[in-house]
Formats: sequence, C-alpha cells, structure tokens
Amino acid sequence: MASTLPSSVLVVGGGGREHTLVRSLLASPARPRVICAPGNAGIAQDATCFPIAADDITGLVALARREKAEFVVVGPEVPLALGLADQLIDAGIPVYGPKAAGARLEASKIFTKEILLKYKIPTAAAGIFSEVEPALAYVRSRGAPIVIKADGLAAGKGVVVALTLAEAETAIREMLGGRFGASSRQILIEDCLTGEETSILVVVSGRDYVILPTSQDHKRIGDGDTGPNTGGMGTYSPAEVVTPALLARIENEIVRPSVNAIAGEGLDYCGTLFIGIMLTPTGPSVIEYNARFGDPETQVVLPRLDSDLLALLWAAAQRQLDGFALKVKPTHALCVVVAARGYPDKFAKGDVITLPPTLPASVTVYHAGTSLNAAGQIVTNGGRVLGVTALGSTLRQAADAAYAACDAIQCTTKYYRRDIGAKQLNRAKP
Ligand code: AMP
Ligand code: GLY
Repeated sequence: MASTLPSSVLVVGGGGREHTLVRSLLASPARPRVICAPGNAGIAQDATCFPIAADDITGLVALARREKAEFVVVGPEVPLALGLADQLIDAGIPVYGPKAAGARLEASKIFTKEILLKYKIPTAAAGIFSEVEPALAYVRSRGAPIVIKADGLAAGKGVVVALTLAEAETAIREMLGGRFGASSRQILIEDCLTGEETSILVVVSGRDYVILPTSQDHKRIGDGDTGPNTGGMGTYSPAEVVTPALLARIENEIVRPSVNAIAGEGLDYCGTLFIGIMLTPTGPSVIEYNARFGDPETQVVLPRLDSDLLALLWAAAQRQLDGFALKVKPTHALCVVVAARGYPDKFAKGDVITLPPTLPASVTVYHAGTSLNAAGQIVTNGGRVLGVTALGSTLRQAADAAYAACDAIQCTTKYYRRDIGAKQLNRAKP
C-alpha cells in the first residue's frame, strides 16, 4: 500500500485532459483539495484555478509552495520538457510526470528513435538529417509514401505523411528551413507504416508499470481520416482491435522492453508513458512516445477506471506501484472533440457557447479551449474547445449519447467529426 494519500493536489495545464484529471482526482475517496493552473472556464467550475501559464516553471513551483500542494500532477509536455518535475522534486514536492531527461522521449523524436533501435523495439526504419540535399537524396531512394518528422516539439504539427515525393521534398525544405525553429533543425525521415493506430497509456514508476485501458484517437481533422493532422479529434475506449492476445504481444514486445530501456538509460521515469502504436500487418510498431497522458485519450480512459486515480498516481510517485491492481469498468467510452471551425489552421475565438441545460448522466462535457468573456459567458478560446464524453454498455450507445449532446451544444463556430468510433462500429458484428 502506498503511504497516506495527499490532501491537496495541483494539476498543471488547461485542456480537456486536465479537466478530466481534475474530475477524476476530485472523485477520489480521499476527497483531496484540487487546484489547477492555468485551467479553463470549465475547470474553474470544479476547482480553484490560478492564472499561471503551464510554461512558467518558477511561477508553478511558487504556486505549489504557496498553496501547500502535497502532490503535483502535470498534464502537458512543455512544462515537463522545461524541467518542472526536476524543480518540484528539488523543492521536496512529490510530482507525477517525468523529469526533463525523461520528457526528452517526447521532446526529441531522434532521441526516442535511437533508444527504440538500440533496444530492438519494433519501429519504422528511419534516417536522421540536418541538411536538405542528403535528405532529398534519401527520400528519392526510399520513394513515397514517406514520413517527415521535425525532431522537437511542434504542437502535434511536426509530422508530414507525404503521399508523393513532391510533398516530401516540400516538407523537408520547410522544416530544415526553420518552419518549427529549433524543433526542426534536425528531421527524421521514416518509412510509412500502414494499419490502425492505438494509444497505449502506461503509468510508469521506474521499472514498475500499470497499463491503462486501450483507446484509439482520430488524428485527422476530417471525416474518413482526411485533411491535416490535429492534436486529436475524438477517441474511444476500449479499442477492440487490440484483442487480449494482441495486448499481451504489445506488452511483451513493446511495453516491458520500453520501460526497461528507459530505466536502462538511467532516465528514472515516473509518469505516463504514452506509446503510439501502429498495428501493421506484420505486428505492432512504435510510432512515438509521449511523456504524458494523451488528449483526448484521457477523456475516455480515466472515466473507465474503477480504481482511485489519486491512489494510482500517488503510488507511482512514491515508487510503490508494484502490485497495484487496476480495476476497469466494463463500459465503452467515446469522446467527440468539438473544435472551432478552421482548426488546425486559423480559427476565431470569443464565440459564445451554450450547453444544454440538462445532459444524461452518461455524458460529461470536458472543457479545453474555453474562457469567460466580460459578460461572464463561456466562450471559445482555443482550437479544440470541448471534449464530449459518453459512457455506454456498447460503443453504439456511447456514440449516440455523445453525438446527441454535441448536436445540442450551441456555438456558431462549432465543428466536429461525425465518424468518431466508426471503424470499430462498422467492424462490430450485429
Ligand atoms: P506523431 O506526432 O509522431 O504522433 O505523428 C502524428 C501522426 O502521424 C501519427 O499519429 C500517425 O498517424 C502518423 N505517423 C507518424 N509516423 C508514421 C509512420 N512511420 N507511418 C505512418 N504514419 C505515421
Ligand atoms: N491525442 C494524441 C496526443 O495526445 O498526442
């Protein structure tokens, strides 16, 4: 058993993932005080929010001290990459989220690729480039489709799946030309994998780990997986394409070797390891690691937990995760992201959102890019605005309830995909 649970928790971030974390932590039987920075208009209805940006490391450490937070749970990758966990640990405040050295698994795709190759964890073949001409020669030798990736963080936009050589060449010139600043000073050119993707979230504490329920994201902006990549337009859990046998294979070939590789590299990892996996015809292959919970994966994974999230994350932070028996509800969850029309490119802010006065108990609206205007109305304040999650005894039930709620939300610039979960729904036998 982990030691006494903390009575006050600071959640860092202000998106749909953090709203879900706040709700799940508040549901702990330990009844902790939960505060958030910077939060959003929806989180502010559940927890006191402090207007400190997620990249203001000094401000966040000072806040944790001032508010006597006994535990900090970090949502986004940027504060982790900037060393928030290192500084909190130095200040004697337990934290869930890896130190900067561990966050490099997300902050540098080249660092990760080198670890994957060194430890023989299945992943696509790749070349690393910092000059245009050798990169162009490499793509010409490999042919299209081919994938061009900025090495560093690029808010989910640093990957181009080029269907033609011309697209690949443009992406190479743009990225090495400085499109993402220092993040694309080096690029990775990777063979294109085919198959369905799944997101495997793993709570890691050194060499111990707990695998959370499976989920599947929908990365493209348009129905039928068309248009540009986004941060994620909707999710469902469980991802039934990951059968129990396949999950066992993923654990053996990817999860355990990854956790051991990360420990073997001396990264002393405590936090979520999010493994993006392509289920290729020849087996599961790692697309990426993220050093945090997924967004919007969190919005379908956490509502399905029957275990106390606070106890789970605290056990990880206390290095007492060994033997944690995770309980999962036998439900399906589906989340539709309501975005501002125009996202992931230009979009307007400040559009008034009116939520239906009542929603079924199975539906939760998690806020992402929302704020209050001068009149106290909830308005859009980001690309991804809301995450509408529904639980159901079938995926169909969950989808119907989520979409009914999305349709009932009033917001003139709302946009959402109509086909979240369709792959699994169409696969399901009547
Ligand atoms: P990432 O930012 O690494 O998650 O990549 C964004 C998306 O690009 C992934 O979710 C995949 O859909 C796609 N992608 C990344 N790498 C590959 C690859 N090697 N082959 C095919 N698609 C990829
Ligand atoms: N939904 C994908 C991510 O969080 O990176």
